[in-house]
Amino acid sequence: MAQQFAGRTMYLIAILIAFLSGNGQAASSDLIKKACTIDRGTVDLDICIATLGSYDQISTATTMQTIAVHIAQVGISNSTATRSYIEESLAKPQAASTKATLEDCKEAYDTVIPSFNSALGEIKKDKEYQTATYDLLLAATDYVGECEKSVVNNKMVDQVIQSGNKAVEVFALSAYQIASDLQKP
Ligand SMILES: *[C@@H]1O[C@H](CO)[C@@H](O)[C@H](O)[C@H]1NC(C)=O
Repeated sequence: MAQQFAGRTMYLIAILIAFLSGNGQAASSDLIKKACTIDRGTVDLDICIATLGSYDQISTATTMQTIAVHIAQVGISNSTATRSYIEESLAKPQAASTKATLEDCKEAYDTVIPSFNSALGEIKKDKEYQTATYDLLLAATDYVGECEKSVVNNKMVDQVIQSGNKAVEVFALSAYQIASDLQKP
């Protein structure tokens, strides 16, 4: 009797877990799709969905606000890692044009990272979604654009910097999209 009861309880718990996790997944893939359906910029939908989906903390988010928070946090750690790489490269001997681009990119990331940080505070604490959209849009366009322009002008080929720049666009514009949806009355 007790065993039968335990068995039934386990069965019900299993169903409950399946239900909850199934729901969670459906909700977050909808949220990722929403984040990646961006009305500004040139981020590819499939690349955006694959990128955001590869981060657990983003793909398990269940509300608009928390997914935006997690995207901004991943944006901060990703762009900080890119800046560290740039700094390490600058510490090594480099050709003059490479050095110039690395310096432009360091300056660019010195503006990108604080923008992600401001947006994070605005979304998480202040619920100032409109201000967050400005910061995120600037990070994805003008700010990271300084590095992108310099890379193109000096014909630099650097996978870490180029994928880092694309990643800034993906994270900043997807968080921008959610923040602008949140801002709507
Ligand atoms: C930043 O994120 C992108 C997309 O996930 C990834 O390809 C890239 O390796 C990351 N860069 C760093 C320096 O971690």
